[in-house]
Amino acid sequence: MHQTFIVFIIFLLLLPVSGLSCLASEPSLPQSTDQLETFEIDGNTYPIPEPWSGNRIAAPSPAAIDFRMISKAHTHNGTKIYIEKNARDALQVLMDAAKEDGVYLTVNSGFRSYNYQMRIFTRMMREGRNYEDVIRYVAPPGYSQHALGTAIDFYPSNWEFAELLTYTWLQDNAWKYGFKETYPRINESGYPWEAWHWNYIGNAHTAENKAPGPAERPLQ
Ligand code: DAL
Ligand code: ZN
Repeated sequence: MHQTFIVFIIFLLLLPVSGLSCLASEPSLPQSTDQLETFEIDGNTYPIPEPWSGNRIAAPSPAAIDFRMISKAHTHNGTKIYIEKNARDALQVLMDAAKEDGVYLTVNSGFRSYNYQMRIFTRMMREGRNYEDVIRYVAPPGYSQHALGTAIDFYPSNWEFAELLTYTWLQDNAWKYGFKETYPRINESGYPWEAWHWNYIGNAHTAENKAPGPAERPLQ
């Protein structure tokens, strides 16, 4: 009885310690206090501005995603890029259809974990870019659709992409394969335009909510 009591006390003493060690291995998630979202980078705390604030991505655990590799023939420099299986299969059909029309698509980025997004952010900050500049174009960790495993960036992942016929083809056809341009030129949330960034949302992306056709497109 006495021994059981001592074991119980030791158990109680160890409990918070093991709890903390669990937390210590988790990435530091953005904190939300009094509606002010912040995140920490290199020991400094920064506020998360609009349009990201209030729009954290509910990404599944990477362990729960059935990852598949995008054919290296379709990735920039033959890089190994992984996305979720249904997205990868739909993307392959999309890219084959594009090829039939003489349009060659190359993928530049796919799944990015919380930690990977953090590394991108940290690298850019350490290169001397200021926070306001970086956060305008790079989602803070926890806010990137790339953590869903369904988002891709086509190559080139910059403003030139919007000038390419490839982009026009995607605007006209990507919806048929379940892909949506999630940061279009005109969007209500105020996200910067990323013509190269597309997210697979499956059947939900139908003709009714596809991107505007050429005639309806705003002048560039
Ligand atoms: N560039 C997009 C917004 C991202 O970092 O997820
Ligand atoms: Zn992207």
